[in-house]
Amino acid sequence: MRFSAKTIKHLREQALRASRQAYAPYSQIQVGAALLANDGNIYLGCNVENASYGLTLCAERSAVSAALQAISDKRESLIRAIYVVNNKLPEISPCGACRQVLFEFGKGGIVYFDGKSGTKKILIDKILPEAFRLRARL
Ligand code: THU
Repeated sequence: MRFSAKTIKHLREQALRASRQAYAPYSQIQVGAALLANDGNIYLGCNVENASYGLTLCAERSAVSAALQAISDKRESLIRAIYVVNNKLPEISPCGACRQVLFEFGKGGIVYFDGKSGTKKILIDKILPEAFRLRARL
């Protein structure tokens, strides 16, 4: 699926809004994600850190969780697009754990993120080569 420049800009703005809600007292990196779901709505997520560092939840998985809470149908293609931003690094792309989760729910979807010179994108179908799976993809 292709998205207009206007839709992508809107998603980025929503991701920035989400990043302001991040709980990141340890890294100071506030990450926000805006997920355009297959019901046409946008769901937001932010990173949530913890004093026990390994418990940290990334913004992408937080947004997926928000969307799953609202959507029961066609969950394998829940994510049409997801835009990820942060307040610090010139570029941030989804970590390995998030790629596995995006793959599970993002059939046919696209990840957008801020690159050093403009928006970059990755097709979710290709985001994690040989992703772990327990059943054939529908
Ligand atoms: N983080 C995300 O929220 N998403 C990513 O894709 C990469 C990393 C967060 C986790 C942690 O709170 C902070 O960024 C620094 O690693």
